[in-house]
Amino acid sequence: MKEKAVEKFKQLFGDKGDIRIYFAPGRVNLIGEHTDYNGGHVFPCALTIGTYGVARKREDRKLCFYSMNFQDRGVMESSLDDLKPKKEEGWINYPKGVIWAFLEKGYEVEKGLDMLLFGNIPNGSGLSSSASVEVLTGFVIKDLFGLPVSLKEIALLGQYSENNFNGVNCGIMDQFAIAMGKKDHAIFLDTSNLSYEYAPLKLKGAKLVIGCTNKKRGLLDSKYNERREECEKALEEIGQVVGIQTLGDLTQEQFEAYKDAIHDETRKKRAKHAVYENERTIKAVEALKKGDIPLFGQLMNESHSSLREDYEVTGVELDTLVEEAWKIEGVIGSRMTGAGFGGCTVSIVKEEAVEEFIQKVGKAYEEKIGYKADFYAVNIGDGPFVERIK
Ligand code: GLA
Repeated sequence: MKEKAVEKFKQLFGDKGDIRIYFAPGRVNLIGEHTDYNGGHVFPCALTIGTYGVARKREDRKLCFYSMNFQDRGVMESSLDDLKPKKEEGWINYPKGVIWAFLEKGYEVEKGLDMLLFGNIPNGSGLSSSASVEVLTGFVIKDLFGLPVSLKEIALLGQYSENNFNGVNCGIMDQFAIAMGKKDHAIFLDTSNLSYEYAPLKLKGAKLVIGCTNKKRGLLDSKYNERREECEKALEEIGQVVGIQTLGDLTQEQFEAYKDAIHDETRKKRAKHAVYENERTIKAVEALKKGDIPLFGQLMNESHSSLREDYEVTGVELDTLVEEAWKIEGVIGSRMTGAGFGGCTVSIVKEEAVEEFIQKVGKAYEEKIGYKADFYAVNIGDGPFVERIK
C-alpha cells in the first residue's frame, strides 16, 4: 500500500526532491468518556491502524492535497495565503486547519507542500480519523520545516485547529492519544494539567475488539457541542456553592452533596456522568495496574450505562452492540468509545471467545438494526513516525 501511495504521489506531483512518508495512528479510548473537556481523566491508546501521508515541500506557497480515500475529489489546492475553512471542501479542512494553527501561533511555514494521504481507519468509525489527519499534518509540518514543536504541542495545535478552524469544540484526548501513543500501552492522562503516565495493557489472554455500528453520524458535531455547553452551565451553577475549576475536581460524595445547585434535571445528569466517569477511570487504571482485568471490564460496562442513562450519547445502535456483547461469557467488558451517537464500541474479549462474539453480536445487530456491523481485533501501536524515501 505504501508503495502504491508513493507511486501515486509521483504520478500526481512529479518525482523530484525529498519525498518522505509519514504515519499517525488512530485511537481508541478504553475508559473516561466525555471527561476531557471537564478537566477529568481519560485512558486512551493509539492503534496500529491510522493515516499515512506522502509529502514534500514546494518552492511556492501552494498547498496541494490528495486523498486516496476520496479519489473522486482529485487534487485539492489551497495556499498559505488563503487559509479559511469552506464547509463544502470537507476533509481538506483538517490539514488546512492545522497549517493555519501553526501560522496563528507564530510558527514560520514559509513554503507550501504537496501531500497525499491514505488511511486505513474505517471512515466515520469514531476511531478519530480526523485527529489522526491533524496530528499527521502537524508532524509533517514540523519535519519538513524543521520547527521546534514537541509532540504534545502538535496535539494542542491539532485541537486548536479543530476548535477554531473546524468549529468542533473537542477536548484534547484524541490528538494527545495519537501524538503520544506507545506500543502496548494506554495513556492515563489528567486533562486538567496534561500530566500523564503510560500503563502497560496486559490483557492476559484477551483481545481488544472494536465493533463499528456503520451508522451515519449526521448531527454529531452539534450534539457534541450541546453536551459541552450543558456541562459548562452545570459547572457554573455548582461553582456558586463550592470552589472548583472543573467538574473533574469533584468527588462523587461532593457531587451528591452539592448537586441541587444545578437547577435542571438534564444538566444534573450530565454533570453526574462527568464526575462519576472521572472516578471510574481512576479506579479502572488502579485495577489494571493490579492485574484485575474483571474489575476493569466491570467499570467499562458501568461507563456505558452512564453514557446511556445520564449522558445520553449512545443510541440504539451502540446499545445493541454493547448489550449483545454483555450476554457473551467470554466478554470481560464492553462499552461505546469516542463521542458516541454512532461510531464504535470497544470490548475486551477472551481470545477463545472472539469468534463467537463477532458471530453472535453481528447476527443480533443485523436482525435488530437492519444492516451489518463490522468488527476488528486491534493492536496498540506507537505515535507518529517518518521514513525517508530517498
Ligand atoms: C470526541 C472528542 C474528544 C472526547 C470524546 C468523548 O472523540 O474529540 O475530545 O471529548 O469525543 O470522550
